Amino acid sequence: MAVKQGKIFTVTSMKGGTGKTTTVLNLAGIFKRMGKKVLIIDMDFYGSAVAASLNLDGDRSIYNVVDDLTNNRFDYIDNYVLSYDDNIDVLAAPKDPRIATKIGSKYLGIILTKASMKYDILLVDTNYVIDENKLIILDHSDEIIYLMTNDPIDIKNMKSMISIYKDMDKKNYKIVLNEAIDCNRSYFNKYDIKNIMKDNVDYTIPSSFHMKSIDKLVLDGKIMTLDKTVQLKNKKAMKNFDLIAKALLREKKK
Ligand SMILES: Nc1ncnc2c1ncn2[C@@H]1O[C@H](COP(=O)(O)OP(=O)(O)O)[C@@H](O)[C@H]1O
Ligand SMILES: [Mg+2]
Repeated sequence: MAVKQGKIFTVTSMKGGTGKTTTVLNLAGIFKRMGKKVLIIDMDFYGSAVAASLNLDGDRSIYNVVDDLTNNRFDYIDNYVLSYDDNIDVLAAPKDPRIATKIGSKYLGIILTKASMKYDILLVDTNYVIDENKLIILDHSDEIIYLMTNDPIDIKNMKSMISIYKDMDKKNYKIVLNEAIDCNRSYFNKYDIKNIMKDNVDYTIPSSFHMKSIDKLVLDGKIMTLDKTVQLKNKKAMKNFDLIAKALLREKKK
């Protein structure tokens, strides 16, 4: 079988609860609609949510990959993933945080590289902490999505992050403003945000995408962007997700 050169897209933020996990799942749905083979990797080791959101059972997780790599037992990434549907697989984070502490950062790059040979797209879910793990994940990513909300601390922290990126001459990031999370909070408009951050918000998840039924969808293990009713009622959000996905695919590999 030919070796693929899949792209690695990481969703992260400067603050908790900005909608990262939900966005990872929604983008997976969009890429599936484009016919891509997607692996979602849950690298939020202390707040794992992907497998639970998709009702995927099983004890296989990234820890097994790390353990087998350490002991020279690793064979194929296929043996460690959980299957959601024909297009979407998941490499889960361990359910037990005591096990998560055993995942050494030095293996994360190897896992990302090996997995990218088998899939068109890797979507990496992360937390908001900047630590050794995060730096390695970001370094291996073709594109990084910073998901932010309309929150003063979030905006200020993004400003610091952007200036660090500019110092390092890095341009492989997109800023996505999630208005579907805190939709009552609209003190700053997109232009205020641009003025404070000195950079553009590239895309918006509109407030119209705020969904009261999200808990029911999660309980049923459904992906919003693959749900017919959600698709019909949220044309604007669906269009924006499409734009984000197409923009990610267009960017050249590092
Ligand atoms: N479009 C939406 N409509 C309603 N609630 C949402 C939406 N997106 C996310 N949420 C809710 O916001 C909370 C945080 O989202 P989550 O994706 O878990 O964020 P993070 O991964 O950044 O912590 C969750 O309870 C989630 O169900
Ligand atoms: Mg999350």
